[in-house]
Amino acid sequence: MKNLLVTGGAGFIGTNFVYYWMDKYPEDHIVVLDALTYAGNKDNLSEAEKKSKFEFIHGDIRDQPLVESLLVNHKIDTIVHFAAESHVDRSIHGPDKFINTNVVGTHTLLKAAKKNWFNEKFENHRFHHISTDEVYGSLKSDDQPFTETTPYAPSSPYAASKAASDHLVRAYHKTYGLQVTISNCSNNYGPYQFTEKLIPLIITNALNGKALPVYGDGKQIRDWLYVDDHNLGVDLILRKGKVGETYNIGGNNEYTNIDIVKLVSSLIHREVLQNKELVNKFPNCPAAHGKHPEELITPVKDRAGHDRRYAINAGKISSELGYSPGESFETGIQKTLKWFLDNETWWRKIMDESYNDWLNLNYD
Ligand code: NAD
Ligand code: TYD
Repeated sequence: MKNLLVTGGAGFIGTNFVYYWMDKYPEDHIVVLDALTYAGNKDNLSEAEKKSKFEFIHGDIRDQPLVESLLVNHKIDTIVHFAAESHVDRSIHGPDKFINTNVVGTHTLLKAAKKNWFNEKFENHRFHHISTDEVYGSLKSDDQPFTETTPYAPSSPYAASKAASDHLVRAYHKTYGLQVTISNCSNNYGPYQFTEKLIPLIITNALNGKALPVYGDGKQIRDWLYVDDHNLGVDLILRKGKVGETYNIGGNNEYTNIDIVKLVSSLIHREVLQNKELVNKFPNCPAAHGKHPEELITPVKDRAGHDRRYAINAGKISSELGYSPGESFETGIQKTLKWFLDNETWWRKIMDESYNDWLNLNYD
């Protein structure tokens, strides 16, 4: 039985991780620590809060006394660290938060873990750090995908802050013997993803009849990973991964952005044509009045420092830990679209609340 502290558990991947873990290991205790920034949503965890082995703590990973008290009071033996500022565009406009949360916050957690686990002689502790393939920088079209030994070359302030946090995690292993593992994964998609990221943005804007913004020429490539395949990878690393090691997790699904936007538009077109209820629910969607959502595609100014291509070689986690993603992009995107169609209230609340101002800023 494990006692887990999941940081950032009210965000996109953290929420999915909590449900994945509860389902698979119902005997484990889970404490979520989340500051509920614009990207965190406590309602995501309403089903988890019905369980006695779950607790939600509203707080900041930079609050070391709080983190230490959680580690002691809940006898935490495993930290799964998701909490971060995660959006590249926001990091370009305001990098300070990214340094504070991603670098200082990770360091605060490391200090608290080291102090508590070494004092309390928790011999079987584990600090698992969730990182990104963006630390490796940009690939050319004919480059080999990233491996765990690809040199770090982050482009955005977000990627640089994640790279810095990876180095700190590794340093705490080498210098102090903290039992750490790191995973660097590709672009996730799935339920609960905040609607500023490409796939949920395209789904919700197409349903609302709003522009589908494509940065630059739209030929940038991302390697898409269904969120529960990411969680499967983290699960394998926690159970079977070697302390001190890094594992890349990818979905083996390279697509250009413009192809993603066209594919999602076509899926929505088909769904709306097949289901008259959706016509009433989403009257502004072009498909509700005989048009194709692709008509909403709008080229916009490119992102500064935009990485051209990310791609993951997941050979190490596959051969050493038996990892194999359960979803193809075709099945994962269907599940995701279904979730967004079934959970309109969830995304409307987010879109009404905070981020329209942000979008305006973004397209200037
Ligand atoms: P998200 O932005 O959806 O959620 C982040 C969560 O962290 C939110 O709940 C937020 O409230 C919380 N948080 C932020 N600052 C905090 C602080 N100071 N203290 C406590 N909680 C805080 O992010 P996500 O997409 O779920 O990403 C989770 C992790 O996975 C991040 O570390 C990110 O770098 C990494 N990652 C994400 C992707 C992706 O495609 N989404 C890909 C690779 C890696
Ligand atoms: P995003 O979801 O922000 O993830 P990341 O920047 O971490 O890869 O963006 C995915 C890709 O889609 C990226 O190349 C930027 C592009 N993009 C658009 O073309 N339009 C958009 O509105 C957004 C949000 C992203």
